[in-house]
Amino acid sequence: MMDELRQTFRQHFGTAPEIYVRAPGRVNLIGEHTDYNDGFVFPIAIDRQIEIMATRRSDRKVVIFSPDFDATESFMLDDIRHVDDSWCNYPKGVAYFLQKGGHELTGGNAVITGNIPLGAGLSSSAAVEVASALMFTTLADVVMDKSSLALLCQRAENQFVGVHCGIMDQFISLMGKKDHALLLDCRSLEYDRVPIPMEDMRVVVCNTRVKRKLTGSEYNERRAECERGVEMLKEWLPDIHALRDVDSQQFKKYEAELPPLTQKRCRYVIDENERVLASVAALRARDYERFGELMFASHRGLRDDYEVSCLELDLMVEIASGVDGVLGARMTGAGFGGCTVNLVRESSVSAIEAEIQKRYPQETGIQPEVYICQIADGASVSST
Ligand code: GLA
Repeated sequence: MMDELRQTFRQHFGTAPEIYVRAPGRVNLIGEHTDYNDGFVFPIAIDRQIEIMATRRSDRKVVIFSPDFDATESFMLDDIRHVDDSWCNYPKGVAYFLQKGGHELTGGNAVITGNIPLGAGLSSSAAVEVASALMFTTLADVVMDKSSLALLCQRAENQFVGVHCGIMDQFISLMGKKDHALLLDCRSLEYDRVPIPMEDMRVVVCNTRVKRKLTGSEYNERRAECERGVEMLKEWLPDIHALRDVDSQQFKKYEAELPPLTQKRCRYVIDENERVLASVAALRARDYERFGELMFASHRGLRDDYEVSCLELDLMVEIASGVDGVLGARMTGAGFGGCTVNLVRESSVSAIEAEIQKRYPQETGIQPEVYICQIADGASVSST
C-alpha cells in the first residue's frame, strides 16, 4: 500500500514524498447523536483509513492529487474559498482554520487515497480532515495537541463544510487505540480506553449501500430540536446547559409539557446517554449479552424516537437479531442509510455474513457489503 502510494507520488510530482500520514475511519459501538448534546460516545477506530504522502513546496500553493477520483485540486493558502460539493473543502477548511488560529503554513504537494467507503457513515470526511491537519502541521512544523487538532477539524466541518457535527469522529480518528473502544465525555473531552475482548468477539459492519440522503439538513434539524428541548426544559431545570444535564427520572416529570416531537427527540438522547454508561459497565463486567441488549435498545430509540434510521438499516438489524451468537446490532453514525455495527461471537461471524448476504438482497434488491473490522490505532505521521 505504502509502496504504491510512494510510486503514485513520484509519477505525479516527479520527486519522492517526505511524509506519510494515515487517519482511520470509525464505527461507533453505542452513543449516537449524543456528542452534540455534550454527552457520551463509545467509538472505535477501524482498519480502513485515509492515507496521504506529501512534500513541502517553497511557495504558498497546495496541490492535492486523488488517484481514487483521478482528479487534482489546488489552492493558494492566502485565498481559500469553499467550492460546493468538492472533496477539497475538507483540506481547505482545515488549512483555513489553522491559519485563522495564527499558525503559519507552507504550501505542499500531496497524494491522498483511502479505503473507507464514502457516504457509508464510517467517517471518511473526518479522516480526511484529520489526515490533512496532520499533513499541514507536520509540513509547517506546527505543534498542536490532539484534542485541539480534533476541535479544529470539527470547526472546519461545522463552519467551512457546513455540517454541524459533534466531536466524536475527529476525536476517535486521532485518539483510537488498537483493540480498545474509547469512552469519551464530549463536554470535557476526558476519555477512557476500554479493552474489547477480540479473542472472543468481532465487530462486523454491514453496509446497506444506501447512500445517506438528506444527512446535512436532517442532521442539523435534529440538533436544533435538541437545543429547543433544552430551552423549554430550562423553565423547570434552570441550571441545565444541554440534554446531558437531564436524567431520565427528571425528564419523566416534565416530558408531557413538551410538544410531541421535541419530547421524542429528547427522550432518545437522554436514554442513549444512560445506555452508554451502562454498556461500558457491562463490558467491564464481561457481561456481553447486556452490552448487546443495549445496542438493540439504542437502535430502537434511533428508529422510533429519533427517527434517523431507514428500512434498509432496520432490516439489517432484524436479520442480525435472528442469528445465534449475534450479541447486539444497531445502526451506526448519523443514520438515513450507511452501516450497521454488530457485536458477534467469533464462532458466528460466518453465519451473520451468510444470512445478510442471502436475505438483504432478496428483500431490497441491493447487494450489501460486510466488513469484519479490526480495531485500529488512531492517526499517525511518519517520514517516508
Ligand atoms: C455524525 C457526526 C458525529 C455524530 C454522529 C451521530 O457521524 O459527524 O459528530 O453526531 O453523526 O452520532
